[in-house]
Amino acid sequence: MNAPRPPRILDAWYVLAWSHEVRAEPLIRKLYGDPIVLFRSASGQVGALEDRCPHRGVPLSTGTVVGERLQCGYHGWEFSCAGRCEAVPSFLGEADHVGRRVPSYTVREQQGMVWVWGRPGAEPTTEPFDLEYADAPGYTVIREDVRANATVHAVAENALDVPHTAYLHGGLFRQATVRNRITAEVKRWHDHVECEYIGEPRPTGLVGRILSPSGGIVTHYDRFFLPSIIQVEYRIGDENHIMITAAGTPVDDYDTRLYAVVALKTRIPGFIIKALKPLGLKVFQQDAEILDRMTETTQHYGEEVYASTDVDLLGPHILKLMRRAAKGELGDPRDEPWTKSVEMDV
Ligand code: FES
Ligand SMILES: [Fe+2]
Repeated sequence: MNAPRPPRILDAWYVLAWSHEVRAEPLIRKLYGDPIVLFRSASGQVGALEDRCPHRGVPLSTGTVVGERLQCGYHGWEFSCAGRCEAVPSFLGEADHVGRRVPSYTVREQQGMVWVWGRPGAEPTTEPFDLEYADAPGYTVIREDVRANATVHAVAENALDVPHTAYLHGGLFRQATVRNRITAEVKRWHDHVECEYIGEPRPTGLVGRILSPSGGIVTHYDRFFLPSIIQVEYRIGDENHIMITAAGTPVDDYDTRLYAVVALKTRIPGFIIKALKPLGLKVFQQDAEILDRMTETTQHYGEEVYASTDVDLLGPHILKLMRRAAKGELGDPRDEPWTKSVEMDV
């Protein structure tokens, strides 16, 4: 079946690696299926080049870093971080030539992550997303990357979707038999959408009991920012603040890597927090398995076309924002946000 492709947003920043992963040894990563070689030059600069030598098409990732350049492993041509050909061994003429340049991606390294602008050779029009609390005093920060065989949209919706938690993760967060009436306020701006959950009691499952044994009011926001930033913010009682921000990278249309940064301020002892990490990964494993199955059917039947109700709070908005951005049709930042209030049982 020849299905339309999921939206691709090229003019945006994506995380390709954690900073510590990029060393002199070339690292291969992919964005929308295109291989990109990352390397760190002798002075510490990060280069991100199309992983293809313009000479004979050998992957540049087979090469070696020599000073400020990446040297191809076949005939030794050398390329700068900007993709300029600066040395051709044996050749007596000028190495640099427009036909010998490698498409390069603009790189920014910030908050421990290596971001690239998705369109090679293009000047970025924005700066990468600033992760609030990632370096705030008093916060414990946990970093983890995970991967799912699904579109960025499907992964983002899953991460921000409340109703599935009582079923897919039954007992861990919420229970299908315990219901509370809450109000969800959805607000959509030209480049992001947010949902605030009002009146949510402390989660009834194991996680909630560990986080706040005495119960307490929960403040909970879910957010999505173009092109692929997922954010969940919880305050439970007065003492617990959790900010989870994950940058989604479309490795390919149906293959998404999430670079997640969890910033926590809590009185919970460190060893309990450590114990929560495998639990979090188990939750993600359940999500990844269901997303995998969902991708199989989506790819078989075609585009992501779904039936939704009001309690699919964010997914339809995320898809709308992504489709607009893919067409370069972002709305006006000065516009008032679109809002909707939804009563629901969770
Ligand atoms: S293929 Fe890279 S230098 Fe020849
Ligand atoms: Fe989930």
